[in-house]
Amino acid sequence: MVNLTIDGRKLQAEQGQTILEVARDNGIDIPTLCYNEGVEPYGACRLCLVEISKNGHTRLVTSCLYPIEEGLVINTASERVMANRKMLMELLLARCSGVKVIEDLARKMGVEKPSFKPEYLEKNECILCGLCVRACREVVGTSAISLVNRGVNREVAAPFLETAPDCIGCGSCVFICPTKCIKMEDKGDIRTIHNWKVDFKLKKCKVCGNYFAPEKQLEYIRKKSNLPEDFFDTCPNCK
Ligand code: SF4
Ligand code: SF4
Ligand code: FES
Repeated sequence: MVNLTIDGRKLQAEQGQTILEVARDNGIDIPTLCYNEGVEPYGACRLCLVEISKNGHTRLVTSCLYPIEEGLVINTASERVMANRKMLMELLLARCSGVKVIEDLARKMGVEKPSFKPEYLEKNECILCGLCVRACREVVGTSAISLVNRGVNREVAAPFLETAPDCIGCGSCVFICPTKCIKMEDKGDIRTIHNWKVDFKLKKCKVCGNYFAPEKQLEYIRKKSNLPEDFFDTCPNCK
């Protein structure tokens, strides 16, 4: 076990845990936007900043990535932490005005509106958190989309900014996106994911007649799990 102090509380935690995990296990709130326990942490939003003290030095680290150490002293809400978080929130608010999750988090931190807007910053609902890319790669296993370009041109996209041939239409990226900026639509027997410029034929259940999932996704799961050919002829509700 590792001994550490968070916000004055002496705690014990498992070797290998991150500061964020230990804080959450102990009911200590640290805001996050690019963290999801289903995928590897990435450190994109930097909202989870905390101040650590070690060997007489203090510095800011991203708590979702930083592994705990024996004797570490952590302050999750110091003046420096709060000032940095507020500045990040102002930038996010300037980029994503009108996005509920951002506005709610900003309000919680006492930021009502950005006090400045850098000239280069265009309105965009994507916060480049990379959760969709990680879910697609680590959970689904298809790596159909990626973060491309640098600086102000950075974005999530299908290969060559065209359609995503490896996408199976599962919707995991849509589900995990914190700002809900990936647009997916089921109309009749077709699912469209507008951001990746892809359409999928949906499978019709032999019993109830409902369309329940993209044929491509079902075939992907069937092959991966070595299931019989007719396994997905019926939907989960009719099985
Ligand atoms: S819908 Fe496509 S891009 Fe999104 S997670 Fe599934 S396979 Fe990946
Ligand atoms: S599309 Fe959504 S999940 Fe993907 S990087 Fe942008 S905000 Fe994050
Ligand atoms: S949650 Fe840690 S950097 Fe985003």
